[in-house]
Amino acid sequence: MPCSDDSRAFALRCRADVVEVQRFVRACASRLGFSTVAAWEVATAASEAATNILKHSHGGTITICADDASRSLGFVAEDCGPGIDNLERAMHDGFSEGLQLGREHSSYGRRGLGAGLAAMQRLMHTFSIESTATGTTVTAKKFSTPPATGR
Ligand SMILES: Nc1ncnc2c1ncn2[C@@H]1O[C@H](COP(=O)(O)OP(=O)(O)OP(=O)(O)O)[C@@H](O)[C@H]1O
Ligand SMILES: [Mg+2]
Repeated sequence: MPCSDDSRAFALRCRADVVEVQRFVRACASRLGFSTVAAWEVATAASEAATNILKHSHGGTITICADDASRSLGFVAEDCGPGIDNLERAMHDGFSEGLQLGREHSSYGRRGLGAGLAAMQRLMHTFSIESTATGTTVTAKKFSTPPATGR
């Protein structure tokens, strides 16, 4: 993913690091002319990718990439955690921690709503995820002006 000088890598160790990521994404989005809604969408997707690393891995990094030429903003979130067993299932809304959540799960415990990965894909223009037993990499990008070709 092409990155300008405005891009930055963040180590993810605790919740405060995620707040820093969100702050940086919003600043980049404003500089690139993103609408308030589009800026929120990228900040939410980046925050979710970073939170997944804290929650499901043992820390990792997220690199925010702001590209002036294409007026796009994106991220590469990487960890060396246990990976995702079944990527196809994990991408479905309502799948969390190895369980398909239903109405019977009134208390999720340490589980979330299982909507993070699917939401990330919906919020961004491009999205890809690679996961093996030695780690997960999520790459996503959004353009300030939506691409005509439906990229
Ligand atoms: N970086 C990661 N490393 C290992 N497993 C992951 C990672 N990201 C996601 N997963 C697995 O994929 C599942 C689905 O992730 P998703 O973000 O959609 O839901 P969640 O994190 O469980 O809940 P929510 O995001 O709604 O709070 C997770 O429950 C987890 O099992
Ligand atoms: Mg999540």
